This record gives sequence, structure tokens and C-alpha cells, in this order.
Amino acid sequence: MKTAMIFGTRPEAIKMAPLYKKMKEKGIEAKIIATAQHREMLDQVLELFEIKPDYDLNIMKKGQTLSELTSRLVTKIDEILKKEKFDNILVHGDTTSTFLGSLAAFYNKIPVGHVEAGLRTNDIYNPYPEEMNRRLTGTIAQYHFAPTQKAKENLLKENIDEKNITITGNTVIDALLWVKQNKQKDIEKIKEKYNIKDKKYILITMHRRENWGEPIESVMKAIKKYINENKEMHIVFPVHLNPVVRETVNKILGKEEKAILIDPVEYLEFIALMDASHYIMTDSGGIQEEAPSLGKPTLVLRKTTERPEAIKAGTAKLIGTEEKEVYQAMKEMETEQYEKMSKASNPFGDGTASEKIIQFLKNK
Ligand code: UD1
Ligand code: UDP
Repeated sequence: MKTAMIFGTRPEAIKMAPLYKKMKEKGIEAKIIATAQHREMLDQVLELFEIKPDYDLNIMKKGQTLSELTSRLVTKIDEILKKEKFDNILVHGDTTSTFLGSLAAFYNKIPVGHVEAGLRTNDIYNPYPEEMNRRLTGTIAQYHFAPTQKAKENLLKENIDEKNITITGNTVIDALLWVKQNKQKDIEKIKEKYNIKDKKYILITMHRRENWGEPIESVMKAIKKYINENKEMHIVFPVHLNPVVRETVNKILGKEEKAILIDPVEYLEFIALMDASHYIMTDSGGIQEEAPSLGKPTLVLRKTTERPEAIKAGTAKLIGTEEKEVYQAMKEMETEQYEKMSKASNPFGDGTASEKIIQFLKNK
């Protein structure tokens, strides 16, 4: 079996790294085509997992639009797929690299396996463009690796043949466990580095396109009000490199002493920052999946979710982006709700997703 994995952003790299390492361990011929839709944020992950892509398309341009990115991607991926003969292509999740990787594979009649298949909000603009990217990828893909039963049910509703779906859990748990086992973390040093020794803090991330502008502004205002009223609470916010996001965050929180704004940190440090936080507020998908493994409640800064499992399990709460509601949700974290959420268990897998994906592919 000769496999290629196509990915390009930070979260895809985190979630594909353990699968790639497991394939190599088993002697399977696997190659990585990194689109580098992200540059610095992708490189941080590749370095940590000690992965060197076989191809690096170096596609990122500062402030890239979706259409520019799309046209550059399909041509460049196509060139490689014509040069090498792969038995299958694996893509992950819902980014533009995911969709264009599958489309280029389809044009070359190579079967596609979709990792983290079947997540749906059923609202094509929430998250945007990810809901459409994963639907289109799901239509092209022949093998569907669903992280949960719920994701499988979503695929069945779309008439995907059950024999091509397998429930694997999410590879992000494999990644988290790999880092814990293979990399030493010195949390005290990390705390010193980010000036958070003895500080109680909420860890924040927010970057999604549907939240650009007013939603991010409202959330930042709620946070500002809360930390000004609550003497001991700080925030630590590794701000995504997207210039649109950085501008809004800096405008509102840039001068707040208790708001520690930093650049995106490497995955190992981010795990340590999650671990030492009081709780997490985020619009990220991956973080919602990881946080419960560390016993950290998550307030989700979005209107819809494709991860209802987290809400049902009680590890996360969907709080939207309205200033009043976000502030209110932060107040509620001062009640017994906090303990309850901290103790809820992770519905996203047990660290064996990569193994299950490989078994399925071997039987095809
Ligand atoms: C992308 C994905 C989104 C995913 C997110 C994870 C698309 C359309 N969006 O959003 O689904 O949740 O990644 O983080 O596929 N930049 C840098 N360096 C980096 C990364 C980004 O400078 O390492 C800046 C650049 O100016 C770039 C901009 O961020 O143009 C936007 O990057 P892009 O990949 O288009 O969108 P994201 O918002 O990162
Ligand atoms: N992450 C990281 N450094 C940071 C912020 C996040 O390594 O400064 C990790 C985080 O642990 C998670 C992933 O990046 O695994 C989430 O990425 P992102 O929020 O960009 O994308 P999404 O999950 O929303 O697709």
C-alpha cells in the first residue's frame, strides 16, 4: 500500500502526525504532501513530531483569500499526483487543503480516505467555509473515518454506504498521548516564559472566519469587563497569526495588563498552557476535543457546533458570541458548574484511532 497524506494547517498536522508515525512504524509506504496553507504554525507542529514532508508546496501568502488559495492548491497537488502513483490519499477534517486535496485525488482517480469524517452543523455558513469543505470531501471520499457514533449517523443520513464507514475515535487523542509519552514538558519553565507563574488564568483562542469583526469584538469586550471586575483572574491568549484576528484582539485587549497576549505557541507548550489553566474559552474544534482529557471545561465561542458530543458529555458549553451572554457564562463558571464540567469524561476517543484507520485500510 502506498499512501499520501495531504494537509496544510496546524490542526490537520497535529491530527495526522500520529497516523503517519504509526504507518511508518508498521513499514507502510506513506508520504506527506504539505500544502503549507499555514507556514509558521505548520512548521511548529512538524518539528515537534519530527516529521519532514516529502513535498512542501509552500502555498501560503499573507492575507490569502479563499479563491486564491483554492486555485493555487489544485494545480500544485495535481502535478505531484501525476508524478507518483498512490494507492490512496488521506485527508483530514475541513480546511481548504482538505477539500482541494480530495478534489485533485478524484481528478486522478485515486481513492480518498477522510479522517475526522461526518462532523456536521447543517449550516453552510457556520463554520465557514469548513462545513462546506467537509461535506464536499465526504462526497468525494470512498473511506470515512468517523470519530464518533454520531458522526457515523450523519454520514448514513447522507446515504454513505455503511461498509465504507468505520468509527475510530479522534486522532487528536493519539497526538496528545504521543506528546505526553515522548516529550518532556517542564511546565514551570513554560510558566516563567509566559509570565504566568502563580497566576490564575483562562486560556483563550478565537480565529474562525464567521467570528471575524463584531463577534470577536463582543467576546473581547466581555473578557475585558470580566477581568477588570475579577481581581485574581487573568487571560492567556495565543493569538492566531491571521492579521484580521490580530487587529481586533489588539484593539480591545492590547493595553490590558491582565490580558497576556502571545503568538501561537508550539503544541507541547499549548498542552502545558491548557493543563495549567483554570478553564478554556475557544472557537477551535481541536481544543474542545483535547481539553476534557486534561479535565478542563470549555466555553465554546460559537453559535453552532459539530461536536454535540462534548455538550452532551458535559465537558463543553456552547455560549455564542454576544457580549452579555459571554460575560454571564464566565460568571457561571464561579458556581458548582465548574467542578461538574471538570469531572465530565472525554467522548472523543482513547488514543487508538490511528491503529483502527490502518487496520481498515489494510482490509480494503
Ligand atoms: C485555516 C482554515 C480553518 C482552520 C484554521 C486552523 C481554511 C479556509 N481555513 O484558517 O479551517 O480552522 O486554519 O488554524 O482552510 N498566517 C500566517 N502564518 C501561519 C498561518 C496563518 O501568517 O502559519 C496568516 C496569513 O496571513 C494567512 C492567514 O493567516 O493568509 C490566513 O490563513 P488561512 O489558512 O487562509 O486561514 P486560517 O484563518 O488560518
Ligand atoms: N494549538 C497550538 N498552539 C496554539 C493554539 C492551539 O498548538 O497556540 C493547537 C491546539 O492544541 C489544537 C489545535 O492547535 O490541537 C487547534 O488548532 P486551531 O484552533 O487552529 O484549529 P481548529 O481545531 O479549530 O481546526
